Amino acid sequence: MGLKDPIRVVVTGGAGYIGSHVAKLLVKRGYEVLVIDNLASSSGKNLLYGEFYPLDLANEEGLCELFREKMPDVVMHFAAYIVVPESVEHPLKYYYNNVGNTLRLLSAMQRAGIKNFIFSSSAAVYGIPESIPVEETAPLNPISPYGESKAMVEKILRDMSLAGELRYVSLRYFNVAGADPEGEIGPTYTQPTHLILRALKTAKGEFPFLEIYGTDYPTPDGTCVRDYIHVMDLAEAHILAMEYLLSGGSSEVLNCGYGKGHSVREVVKLAKAVTGIDFEVRETGRRPGDPPVLVAKVEKIKRVLGFRPKYEDLFLIIKHAWEWERKN
Ligand SMILES: NC(=O)c1ccc[n+]([C@@H]2O[C@H](COP(=O)([O-])OP(=O)(O)OC[C@H]3O[C@@H](n4cnc5c(N)ncnc54)[C@H](O)[C@@H]3O)[C@@H](O)[C@H]2O)c1
Repeated sequence: MGLKDPIRVVVTGGAGYIGSHVAKLLVKRGYEVLVIDNLASSSGKNLLYGEFYPLDLANEEGLCELFREKMPDVVMHFAAYIVVPESVEHPLKYYYNNVGNTLRLLSAMQRAGIKNFIFSSSAAVYGIPESIPVEETAPLNPISPYGESKAMVEKILRDMSLAGELRYVSLRYFNVAGADPEGEIGPTYTQPTHLILRALKTAKGEFPFLEIYGTDYPTPDGTCVRDYIHVMDLAEAHILAMEYLLSGGSSEVLNCGYGKGHSVREVVKLAKAVTGIDFEVRETGRRPGDPPVLVAKVEKIKRVLGFRPKYEDLFLIIKHAWEWERKN
């Protein structure tokens, strides 16, 4: 392959929740990691692994200089804004960062001759899917600027790949949750919006009650059903995707989930069991744009990458997240 030893990996957004878990796993596996983050939406507390470069992706010249000096083998791109309702209120902020700054990153890579890319995409690209489990070939109908920004980047990557400008793996994450089982890192969101995190923070007393948005969905208990994946399994999927690209694999788009759905009520029940705290729950109306059920078809990632999850258990996911919350 003519690769340098060790393999050098850029992790944009590596101070954030998912990027920091991936950075840790990469370092533990002997890869060299360069973390790029502007700390726009993370505290810096998770910056324990890899060499940190406090750069904004808007700074294409800075990126290009770093890439030319370090010549990384792969870029993993996590940096983005991620709060869906905020994207509806401030679309330009989301398109500017999630699309515009991804273009600057891709341009800096191209100028430096770096051709392997792993992209943090999202199940949000599917919008409200017509059939469940949702397959990678399903039409992309995002219903928020956030989801649209991910779909746009996927189109740009597809065209660049077709033109031979790079090879990429786009990983469409479903609901990512949990924390490093060793307790070193975990979610550090400045705006925690994810259900499991909200539930645990409510148990801790950071919020007075937890809201359930909609109890009249066409699901077994009336609440929305989601596919939760442990952040360390997701980190493993990134390593597999990188190894796949480095051994010559062609561009791919892959769902990342377990293919199993859990309802909001189920999550709440387990969060109460894990924490031993009977926190207050209030049922309110539906939120616009929430699909009733979002569960991944996961055969493709298993087949293409040989992905075999280790933490496929919602209780364990919530337990690891709680161990982190309790400490922090
Ligand atoms: N968390 C989920 O459930 C989920 C689901 C689907 C997709 N994703 C995607 O995964 C990626 C990581 O998400 P996360 O949950 O770790 O979010 P996060 O907010 O914890 O991490 C994102 C990081 O990117 C950094 N960043 C943002 N804009 C930047 C810029 N212009 N320059 C440099 N750094 C910048 C932030 O400071 C932050 O540290 C995102 O692309 C997100 O869209 C997450």
